[in-house]
Amino acid sequence: MALPPVAVLTGVGSCLPERVVRNTDEPFARLDTSDEWIRSRTGIESRRWVEEGTSTGDLAVRAGAAALRSAAAESVDLVVVCTTTPDHHSPATAPWVAARLGLGPVPAFDLAAACSGFTYALAAGRAWITAGMARTVLLIGAETLSTITDPDDRGTAVVFADGAGAVVLRAGEADEPGAVLATRLGSDGTQVDLAVIAAGGSRRPVPERPDERGERCLRMRGPQMFSHAVRRMTEVSRGLLEGVGWPAGDVEAFIGHQANQRILDKVAELVGVPAAACLGNIRTVGNTSSASIPLVMDEAVRDKAVPAGARTLLTAFGGGAVWGAAALTWPDIPPTI
Ligand code: ACO
Repeated sequence: MALPPVAVLTGVGSCLPERVVRNTDEPFARLDTSDEWIRSRTGIESRRWVEEGTSTGDLAVRAGAAALRSAAAESVDLVVVCTTTPDHHSPATAPWVAARLGLGPVPAFDLAAACSGFTYALAAGRAWITAGMARTVLLIGAETLSTITDPDDRGTAVVFADGAGAVVLRAGEADEPGAVLATRLGSDGTQVDLAVIAAGGSRRPVPERPDERGERCLRMRGPQMFSHAVRRMTEVSRGLLEGVGWPAGDVEAFIGHQANQRILDKVAELVGVPAAACLGNIRTVGNTSSASIPLVMDEAVRDKAVPAGARTLLTAFGGGAVWGAAALTWPDIPPTI
């Protein structure tokens, strides 16, 4: 009996808005914070924010187009956009993105798993391919978190950012570079208030009063989020590595969700991943939620930072709470522009 196809990552692309916001720029300059605090507590020096009028879908189209070019793929069987900041509550952003990319009447849906969105999308795309429901899949993580951030809240304004990253998966073999060998996901819905937008959903409609407008912004219990993130990313990574039979010391590329450099360092240390394997861009990109992992991947491909076939571990944690991890071999993708 023929083995089911394996999802192989064959293309990657990204899009960052042009506007660079440094720690010393507005709106941070008027907050009770400092460049020194932000750098030392988060690892962030600057981030990108969209100009008014640019949507998550706009960034997703650009990242998706770059990933399709990189994979030399003209058509796909599925488009998934993972995002916390869709263009509209309804309809989903993915069908519009698929149409803008000229992909025809393909299935297209949004996936909401906060900062773990990309690991969830990777698991979903892989499952469609393994089940024979798709041969080629476009996964896009895209966010405009600046649109749901309260610029006066120093606990969130300094960390959240905008951007999009995308990958193409196609049906292939387990021994090909880019093969997604395992994925693992989890959730704990008792932790809703770790990071939540209180109003604007069905539980609490959009506030009318100006003094309640902040309720439409993302609020985060930073220190609690920090410790849950470390614990869950460590656990899920260890379980995943055990499942694929890779000693942590053999991991050659490690990309954690770029939430906080101190979280990433701690997870790498606890899991036992070599420091030389750790890839990241939080310093200049900040926390772009669903977009964060594919943004780092695209940068690493352009920098030729990892050899094809290298053992790669991805992990993320986000509001919900939700977490995930994936083991793959590094794809063989020629760097584009
Ligand atoms: N500038 C200066 N001081 C600040 C700032 C700031 N920007 N933010 C908080 N502080 C203060 C606090 O008020 C507090 O002061 P106090 O001691 O007088 O009360 C002190 O600094 C320490 O505050 P903490 O909140 O404990 O700071 P911490 O070191 O935890 O850093 C941060 C805050 C960066 C938010 C951190 O907690 C973090 O990164 N958390 C995890 C984020 C995460 O995992 N996100 C992933 C998912 S997000 C999603 O899914 C949408």
